[in-house]
Amino acid sequence: MPGLLESDLEHIYRIEKFMESMSDLDRLLEVIMREAGLATDAESCSLALYEEGSNDLFFYVARGSAGDGQVEEKLKCVRMPVGKGVVGWCALNRCLANICDVSSDPRFSREADKRTGFVTRSILAVPMVRRDRLIGVVEAVNKRGADRFSENDEKMLTVLAAQAALIIENARLQEENLRQARLTALGQGIAGAAHCIKNILNGVHSGAYILDLGLKQQQLDGVAKGWDIMKRNTQIMEDLVMDMLTYSRPRKPECAPADINRVCADIADLMSQKAKDKKVELVLALQPDVGELVFDSKALYRCILNLVSNAIDASDKPTARVEISTQATKEDGRLRIRVSDNGQGIKEENLKNLFKAFFSTKGSKGTGLGLAVTQKIIVEHGGDIVAESKVGVGTTFTISLPLVHPTSPKQ
Ligand SMILES: Nc1ncnc2c1ncn2[C@@H]1O[C@H](COP(=O)(O)OP(=O)(O)OP(=O)(O)O)[C@@H](O)[C@H]1O
Ligand SMILES: [Mg+2]
Repeated sequence: MPGLLESDLEHIYRIEKFMESMSDLDRLLEVIMREAGLATDAESCSLALYEEGSNDLFFYVARGSAGDGQVEEKLKCVRMPVGKGVVGWCALNRCLANICDVSSDPRFSREADKRTGFVTRSILAVPMVRRDRLIGVVEAVNKRGADRFSENDEKMLTVLAAQAALIIENARLQEENLRQARLTALGQGIAGAAHCIKNILNGVHSGAYILDLGLKQQQLDGVAKGWDIMKRNTQIMEDLVMDMLTYSRPRKPECAPADINRVCADIADLMSQKAKDKKVELVLALQPDVGELVFDSKALYRCILNLVSNAIDASDKPTARVEISTQATKEDGRLRIRVSDNGQGIKEENLKNLFKAFFSTKGSKGTGLGLAVTQKIIVEHGGDIVAESKVGVGTTFTISLPLVHPTSPKQ
């Protein structure tokens, strides 16, 4: 801006530097107010934000160069309707006000002085406007060593007010983007859940149909079959609700000493029938000396069960094989649990979606929450999970957790 002094540019330069390094909006605005006070030789500088709903201006940041900050704190409780006081006038007319003696100016309101105990003599007020939208007003109060603020002060405060307006607008845009992203995720979640529930309800309806038919034809076999389908679908619905709850809420693992090899063996036991039905060889390769470790055994049981269940689902060869292995490495202090299969593998384009909620290629047979919930539990244990896969060759999921022994110091 033409006419600014070299010392003025110093203030702008300092603010630019702060803008690069500081992400805290309040701190940044405070820095701008401090620089504005120094640049215009004002006793105090403040920033009032415009609130669309109430059509009020409220003092958001105030910086005085003297005192213990009590005046500034009190000023933050002051609200001014647009049109009232110098700030209100400035906001309404969207133009600068430079007043040398407020006592003889009808635009001045004594309200802020009454509340804070401050005595205002001169004011320089500049509106903050971005893309034709009012953001607020910046005020410098009481010029030191002179009756009124100079033309150069006007220019300087205009530049600083524009900087503050830009920062505030950016922060608001960022917040809006975040809100939109959350809403989109929520919408996708609801759509995914509705799709799953629809599939489960189809199951319930067909169970009810078979049950009905059995009752009409007085055939107990049909009744039992229909009832069985209904019970299974109720269980699926319960699992879905549990998975959704686990996925949506942060949860601290309930850790206690337990035997990870025992957990894996129990899972192999539970899945043996499913594996047999699909002619899959289920193999355990457990490191014998892993010993007792501290983890949430129920939660990890669920994770490994999800992986084994997926691996069996993906098995499609006559030589199908699924292996669960454990390995504790003292050197890097990690426990690794691997579930590998020689099944159909995962397409490159699906690999990046695996851990997203409701991603499934199984149609009505999958909810797509298994891996999302698994990853969440593992991350809550301070670990990570990765998938390696080759189409037609097979897939390996590796869970890596910090190795915590019952004797390890508490984390
Ligand atoms: N071992 C695997 N081999 C091939 N594809 C896999 C394997 N594990 C997971 N996938 C793919 O990842 C998708 C997501 O798995 P995830 O466990 O999250 O959901 P799902 O198995 O479809 O349903 P559910 O929520 O009932 O477990 C699966 O639909 C499948 O396409
Ligand atoms: Mg699954």
